[in-house]
Amino acid sequence: MEPLEFDVLVNCAAQTNVDRCETHPEEAFLINSKAVAVLGRVCEEKGSRCIHISTDYVFDGEKRAPYTEEDEARPISVYGASKLAGERELLAISSRHLVVRVAWVFGPDRPSFIDGILNRALENEQVEAIGDKISVPTFTLDAARLLRPLLSERLEGGIVHLANQGECTWQEYGQHAINCAAAAGVKMKGRAVAPLKMADLKAFIAKRPVYTALSSGKLANLGGVSPRPWKEAVEDYVRNYWAPRRQASGI
Ligand SMILES: NC(=O)c1ccc[n+]([C@@H]2O[C@H](COP(=O)([O-])OP(=O)(O)OC[C@H]3O[C@@H](n4cnc5c(N)ncnc54)[C@H](OP(=O)(O)O)[C@@H]3O)[C@@H](O)[C@H]2O)c1
Repeated sequence: MEPLEFDVLVNCAAQTNVDRCETHPEEAFLINSKAVAVLGRVCEEKGSRCIHISTDYVFDGEKRAPYTEEDEARPISVYGASKLAGERELLAISSRHLVVRVAWVFGPDRPSFIDGILNRALENEQVEAIGDKISVPTFTLDAARLLRPLLSERLEGGIVHLANQGECTWQEYGQHAINCAAAAGVKMKGRAVAPLKMADLKAFIAKRPVYTALSSGKLANLGGVSPRPWKEAVEDYVRNYWAPRRQASGI
């Protein structure tokens, strides 16, 4: 195979199943840490930058204001620990490499929480979502736009948080999505999202941090653009991607 020349590598690959990581820690560290170091070394040898996507789960969730890049990472799960180890391995290889932490990602390419709750609310009057876990939803198309200035050769490496602005619970997130769908003219059976407690979800194996909203202040300074509030991003997605797709499928 011919070696590939490139200026920047953006690594999105990861073992993201939080509960599987808890029961398969060797696999988690292999994919989320050791493989990241291999990519970082390849980039370094080629004089390229590695931009590595990481997670809000590096934090313990004890804070009650958006986490900044200066906050100490103290993961409470194997997934979080393996991702933090990957961050550290990468940044030790070159000061030009960049870790970009994201949270609660949604977008048109792959179904996520938002598609699940909207689809449930189409069919059921009763819809529920966790009401005691807080973070910030992040639209993939916004993330891609915001990432662009970070690709610049001139930018220093390190860590940057990339998320839409604000914070919410899963319940508030789901409720807003349903409101947007109804406002876009979609007939929703379920109109009110009832709260669930995280402690009641017995199927969870790994511990999840309660609060992981990310501050995007550094990102705004580096890229010169502030992310829009999560509510606007969710409305854009529901109105311009989810609802038209639903109509096109004839449901
Ligand atoms: N989704 C979120 O809400 C969220 C939140 C915080 C951080 N993140 C971070 O964002 C990044 C992307 O997450 P995602 O939600 O898009 O995850 P995802 O849907 O699970 O996608 C992960 C990707 O990694 C690939 N992959 C896994 N193991 C691999 C291996 N051994 N070799 C090669 N490729 C492998 C998968 O390939 P296959 O499809 O072939 O399996 C998949 O394309 C990750 O770094 C994650 O930690 C995501």
